[in-house]
Amino acid sequence: LTDITTLLHSRIRDVADYPEPGVMFKDITPLLADPVAFTALTDAFAGIAERTGATKVVGLEARGFILGAPVAVRAGLGFIPVRKAGKLPGATLGQAYDLEYGSAEIEVHAEDLSADDRVLIVDDVLATGGTAEASIQLIHRAGAQVAGVAVLMELGFLDGRPRLEAALGGAPLEALLTI
Ligand code: PRP
Ligand code: MG
Repeated sequence: LTDITTLLHSRIRDVADYPEPGVMFKDITPLLADPVAFTALTDAFAGIAERTGATKVVGLEARGFILGAPVAVRAGLGFIPVRKAGKLPGATLGQAYDLEYGSAEIEVHAEDLSADDRVLIVDDVLATGGTAEASIQLIHRAGAQVAGVAVLMELGFLDGRPRLEAALGGAPLEALLTI
């Protein structure tokens, strides 16, 4: 482990049986409360934005907003929120995706993305990959390119990575930690 992975890992709290029995919740609030760790995370993501040639940062509601917005500022790029359906007032593009039980939908303001844009998608956790895959589809349908997906942690015991790599078509999936 490098210093940054040790630091980030030490600031993620495992909460057993949350939000339901059998689930180990990964709580990032200790990391957010530590300015050294939060800055290190932001700098690592901003480096990915620069290496991938991103022109915009997309954050996925809600925890991807907290992590993604400072990355956009640090990298000198615009920030675009991908929101849960029904929250954006303008003309939107929507993408539905399946959950373990039922389905969900995310939306983006169509005017926020253009054919010139290369988007770095930022989120906290890659689990099944359903949320990130839907966001990739949304960005492609908006006519923009996906520069990559960057997450703080990847749950390696789920099949999120192969699912996303298929959707990414060669663009990188960068996880700072694999759990
Ligand atoms: C969580 C997490 C990721 C997503 C990962 O979001 O923050 O966005 O699930 O799961 P997946 O890879 O299986 O799609 P959630 O919507 O539960 O909560 P949040 O609004 O607090 O981010
Ligand atoms: Mg989320």
